[in-house]
Amino acid sequence: MFISFEGIDGAGKSTQVKQLKKYLTDKGHDVLTLREPGGTAVAEKIRALLLESKHDITPIGELLLFSASRAELIQNVILPALKQGNVVIVDRFYDSTTAYQGYGRGLDLQMLQQVNNVATFSLKPDITFFLDISPEDALIRKFSEKSLPLAFEESELDRMENSGLAFYQRVRKGYLKLAESEKKRFVMLNACNEAKNIHVQIKQKLTSLYPGL
Ligand code: TYD
Repeated sequence: MFISFEGIDGAGKSTQVKQLKKYLTDKGHDVLTLREPGGTAVAEKIRALLLESKHDITPIGELLLFSASRAELIQNVILPALKQGNVVIVDRFYDSTTAYQGYGRGLDLQMLQQVNNVATFSLKPDITFFLDISPEDALIRKFSEKSLPLAFEESELDRMENSGLAFYQRVRKGYLKLAESEKKRFVMLNACNEAKNIHVQIKQKLTSLYPGL
């Protein structure tokens, strides 16, 4: 089983990934959690390139770097783990590329879908939990997590986080469109709710869809 989590920065994905991993592990499953970009030696180097704020990267360059990182992770880690029967939970997958590079940066969506298909070997999550939050609320949460003062320096943020509020509004809109167009795969959750309530909703959804899980 292949589960992905999506949402803008600060939506609280990593907390939910951790809690779901514990829940499924306690039920006796072998669970592998991964975060994109990254997860192999090469993919971690690509991650550093993408997130270090000192680099200027063109939208196409950005798309190809995220996709290269994903291809490395899928072929070397995700596909072998799924083959062994593990549950794989990823913090971000190709929907992030559609939302950020497509809707956020404005790249052509059809071209992007082709790149996504190539980079993922057409692998799709069985279910995608989308934690929805406004960029304003998400940024407030993110800054408080990083203990940044209200008057933070731009250098405290990574390259993606420096993209501005309008960018994040476009990204959120992209996610909402994706959720609307793939109602079966996407489970939309209000990320402003308490983390423990969101976790309960996630468990309920999974057990209703996969009673044996
Ligand atoms: P990360 O620190 O992992 O952020 P988060 O905790 O919010 O997941 O940084 C990943 C950043 O890269 C994040 O801003 C989203 C962005 N991203 C893309 O723009 N496209 C992609 O395909 C992926 C996987 C991530």
